[in-house]
Amino acid sequence: MSKIQIINTHSHINMLKERTVEEALQNCADENITIIVPSYDDKSIYEVDKLTKKFDKIYGYVGVFPEEVKCFSDKTLNDMENIIRNNSKIIGIGEIGLDYYWDKSFVDLQKEVFIKQIDFANQMSLPLNVHCREAYFDTLNILKENNKNSQVIMHCFSGSLEFAKECIKLGIYISIGGVVTFKNAVKVKEVAQNIPLEYLLLETDDPYLTPVPYRGKENQPSYVKYVAEEIASLRGITYAEVALTTSKNAKKIFPNII
Ligand code: NI
Repeated sequence: MSKIQIINTHSHINMLKERTVEEALQNCADENITIIVPSYDDKSIYEVDKLTKKFDKIYGYVGVFPEEVKCFSDKTLNDMENIIRNNSKIIGIGEIGLDYYWDKSFVDLQKEVFIKQIDFANQMSLPLNVHCREAYFDTLNILKENNKNSQVIMHCFSGSLEFAKECIKLGIYISIGGVVTFKNAVKVKEVAQNIPLEYLLLETDDPYLTPVPYRGKENQPSYVKYVAEEIASLRGITYAEVALTTSKNAKKIFPNII
């Protein structure tokens, strides 16, 4: 019997150093994992476009990451639009958002570019894959004020259960990554255990944040199965139930995924 499909909603498979895309995809195929790859700047949007055309099990997001917003211009939006209109496997805008952790010197520009990309996603009727680090309420407020019709995923969720509940009130999906397997990740475990399953998604954010039992080594998209296993054990349900529900959730947001 074939394994239940898992949709990994955030994998930078194109950034792995220890294995090729082909090798990482073979590992995904063994576990029936389909992945969505975000872009992060005005060049990687083309890389993601190519990857999705080359490999069946790869879908993509186009967007500019908060730390890369200095490369963003009107041309970037035009390029993104051209890519989307010619490729039905580009299924969202991401990763976009706010990051106050590394460099706070251009917060205003981060906000401006975030809002422009939300408007763009609304025009294109595409979901948003949102990166939010130490900018919880600014991110939520900008979404509240600017997002009209796009479904939203909070990628690699790192906030509190309270914040998760605020997000869910707005219909925002919560995507959980490898951090949930870390012993000391009390907050993320609490979120994974308590939010309604209908709002839960899975991801790896590889090559970063490798789950246990491979913590310390390079992450890869097939390790999403360890995220699913941990959530199953936290909630006292089966792996199959986590896989089925999260894939159903993902396909509701992304009907193009096969
Ligand atoms: Ni990422």
